[in-house]
Amino acid sequence: KEAVPTIVVIFGGTGDLTKRKLLPAFYNLFLAGWLPEEFAIIGLGRSAFTDEKYRAHLQEGLTEFSRTGEPKADIWDSFNQKITYLQSDIQDAGAYKKLGDKLDALDQAWGLRANRLFYLSVAPQFIEAVTVNLHEAGLANEVEKDHLIVEKPFGKDLESARHLNKLLTQHFQESQIFRIDHYLGKETVQNILAFRFANALFEPLWNRNYIDFVQISVMEQVGVEDRGGYYEGAGALRDMIQNHLLQLMCMVAMEPPVSFEAEEIRNRKADVLRAIRPLTHEQVTRYAVRGQYGPGWLQGKQVPGYREEPGVDAQSNTETYAAVKFYLDNWRWQGVPFYLRTGKRMQEKTSTITVQFRPVPHSTFSNKLSENLLPNRLTINIQPQMDIRLRFTAKRPGLEMELTPAEMVFDYDTCSTQTPEAYETLLLDALQGDATLFMRSDQVEAAWEVITPVLETWESRPSLEFPNYSAGMWGPENAEALIAREGHTWAVSNFYNGQKKG
Ligand code: BG6
Repeated sequence: KEAVPTIVVIFGGTGDLTKRKLLPAFYNLFLAGWLPEEFAIIGLGRSAFTDEKYRAHLQEGLTEFSRTGEPKADIWDSFNQKITYLQSDIQDAGAYKKLGDKLDALDQAWGLRANRLFYLSVAPQFIEAVTVNLHEAGLANEVEKDHLIVEKPFGKDLESARHLNKLLTQHFQESQIFRIDHYLGKETVQNILAFRFANALFEPLWNRNYIDFVQISVMEQVGVEDRGGYYEGAGALRDMIQNHLLQLMCMVAMEPPVSFEAEEIRNRKADVLRAIRPLTHEQVTRYAVRGQYGPGWLQGKQVPGYREEPGVDAQSNTETYAAVKFYLDNWRWQGVPFYLRTGKRMQEKTSTITVQFRPVPHSTFSNKLSENLLPNRLTINIQPQMDIRLRFTAKRPGLEMELTPAEMVFDYDTCSTQTPEAYETLLLDALQGDATLFMRSDQVEAAWEVITPVLETWESRPSLEFPNYSAGMWGPENAEALIAREGHTWAVSNFYNGQKKG
């Protein structure tokens, strides 16, 4: 699609996200020639920056965080002219008058009414003020041209998410609102759709008749870092499962869409969320496991426990690990467990989807040989390793019949050196007005509904076991029991036949 003249306004322009993700993404889109000639970024923040200072601040971020590294001087010089800063208190209506003047001035200089993309990268308590003020100042009232991007967290429970949706849709059309979940922009995640729906081979097997179980693991090595203030009120369930992991589950479990229209894809994904069997409070104790890291060792260094992190209560009941088993009540997936888990301070960073097929119905081989007969398994490595692997059983070359697991691999490294960052993909979609990879209000609410019983149960019964795993381990022991009960085990994603890649 053609890039149309656009002004991007970033609320939270001096924040971490702008420096780490947004600016590098826009810069890389510029480098790759995706941005229109008439393009501008206006950063809003409370600090006193001149345009020059603001640009220098963003340039530092580029050097540190952009996948393309330090910007080349001449390219940066032509890009940074598009960036300006507006010192403002976003709760003050006067700021929107000034912003309006800036927007009008750009429109006048370009001789057209440019599209406007308002990026709300602000703490949740400010969203209301920004929404109402934008509306009242009439800055985003061209439905086709003006959009809002809303960052997570999108509410802290079902009720607050509903409230937020109501607030946003009172002032803007649903089609103007892009709720971002950056996992959906990841290259490997988008490839799930291509893998499933551009191949005739897998879809006939993609159901309860052939699939034994599905696992979605998003393991992080980082701890809570300096985000204790936010994380204390969130926890792994809200921070990761409600959004990123459930979205991954939708990609794996959705029915084939009729087209790649935004509404069609989003309808199919919403169907998955609605089909998730609600957990009763009793089931939560059997189907969900929580953990919190204590002190431990990571890569030869001692690291503190969660309760010792800055901004964290010394008695904190917040979980830094969560594992949940879900079932889907529909024809395709009846009886197939979906195991979701995520944790901080894990031994390694690795995000993986594992689709395990049923074992052969009858083994033709002797008992001894059958010991090596592992079920077929499809592994989608999302990050940092990016590949798709299909495990099958082969004859080990030799005079005797011996079985050995083998793999077919699609490795991103072999076909691309430049994989775009999730934010590049999503911001480009937003610039082009394509909502496919953004969350609709009903999806967000359905996802909150799914986790509500777990949230309520955990909040009402503080864990007496915390901390229950050491930093540098793979999570609490109970998580092993959760999956072992069905005779399953967690797939250790980075090991193939006992051999680590790389
Ligand atoms: C964010 C969470 O949404 O995703 C963080 O708030 C988490 O806690 C991050 O670390 C993980 O994202 P990524 O892209 O590094 O896997």
